[in-house]
Amino acid sequence: MTAETLALFPDSARIDDTGSLVVGGCGVRRTADQFGTPLYLYDGETLDRAVEAYRTALSRCYPGAAQIAYAAKAWLCSASARWIAAKGIGLDVVSGGELAIALHGGVPADHIHFHGNNKSDRELAQALDAGVGRIVVDHPDELERLDELAIARGRRQAIWLRVNPDVDTDTHHHTQTGHAASKFGLSLRDGTAEAVALDALRRAGVELAGLHCHIGSQLRDAEPLAVAAQRLLDLAARLRDATGWQPAELSTGGGWAVAYTAEQLADLPPVETYVARVSEAVVQRCRQHELALPRLVLEPGRSLVARAGVAVYTVGAVKPAGDVTYAFVDGGLADNPRHALYGATYTALLANRRGDAARQRVHVAGPYCETGDVLIEDIELPPLVPGDLLAVPVSGAYQLSMASNYNAALRPAVVWLEDGQATLVQRRETLDDLLRRDLV
Ligand SMILES: Cc1ncc(COP(=O)(O)O)c(C=O)c1O
Repeated sequence: MTAETLALFPDSARIDDTGSLVVGGCGVRRTADQFGTPLYLYDGETLDRAVEAYRTALSRCYPGAAQIAYAAKAWLCSASARWIAAKGIGLDVVSGGELAIALHGGVPADHIHFHGNNKSDRELAQALDAGVGRIVVDHPDELERLDELAIARGRRQAIWLRVNPDVDTDTHHHTQTGHAASKFGLSLRDGTAEAVALDALRRAGVELAGLHCHIGSQLRDAEPLAVAAQRLLDLAARLRDATGWQPAELSTGGGWAVAYTAEQLADLPPVETYVARVSEAVVQRCRQHELALPRLVLEPGRSLVARAGVAVYTVGAVKPAGDVTYAFVDGGLADNPRHALYGATYTALLANRRGDAARQRVHVAGPYCETGDVLIEDIELPPLVPGDLLAVPVSGAYQLSMASNYNAALRPAVVWLEDGQATLVQRRETLDDLLRRDLV
């Protein structure tokens, strides 16, 4: 149980006298006894501090107005929406479902940005009727449909255009979104972005408030983000020259990385490095083109919530197979498909007792019927016995939001930890939940 591993856990994490993990003032062993496993814990203090880190960085680095808009896709439920509403920050949603949860959690509609590359008419109407702050248009046909739907409601909807800035990023193929062949956004390269902006400026049902891009996720280098911002501002300058319009808002999306292992932590630049580089690029380019400073919008998902989350599993068995040994736990692919999807790496801590100094190399695997149902490959842990608890840090983003009912798994309970209080904010699914939609 090393200090480096503990550093990946929420700020409030510590080890008590019995060698067990404590988060948010709550013993993980007791919390797991109370709510069962697999269990997801969120530490309120770490969530708050992540927002403060962005606020401080923006106020130090960007001289204009700025907004943080949390990307709901990382983790959304009524409790996280309520937290967003209390923090007074914006929220980025990508579906009618996310919009409904956000509103249910009390996020004011005008703080919500509706993204997505294939919004249905029903979703556009839902967003218009709810009064969302911005709808982010992804393709020419969507602009036309949105304009008609807004006019039919006597509305003029504020929009951004999602621009594809044609920027390569050093991240997994599945999380690259700013290259020319990405399915997202209006191409800068072939002139579509400019043509759609000119079209939007002529329409009565929409008001072009800004430009947006999002080039990828788990980015550790701020340079491609700075280049993307510059390209958007070059487009803005061309539009200003042609029409006099200037963007009131510029969103460079999210994408900043978090460390999932101690090795990754060692060379991950802090959020301030990213915010400083993007801010500098925006300020310089605006000065060069004599554009007014837009409101800078950052849309962090992972880097706001990942480290606040801990997944807790119970070991069911330890089983040698060929030249490896498996530690089977009661969750896996169904609550966290990230290893299977992207080969994501994780670490884990024995959470219920002090482990022996001796170490055993294991693959931590789940109970699901896929060979790929492995959470962690080749990790050294103290010898485990059935009933032990394993805590996986940095589990707050893109796990529960990607969770499925594969093998009719019951999605885990979620507990919010703060000041020694453990509050169940989402109950574990039940067998009744699995049958609820079946009509015959
Ligand atoms: C439009 C948009 N904004 C923000 C994000 C958040 O990215 P991350 O969680 O990497 O910060 C995403 C993620 O896919 C996105 O698509």
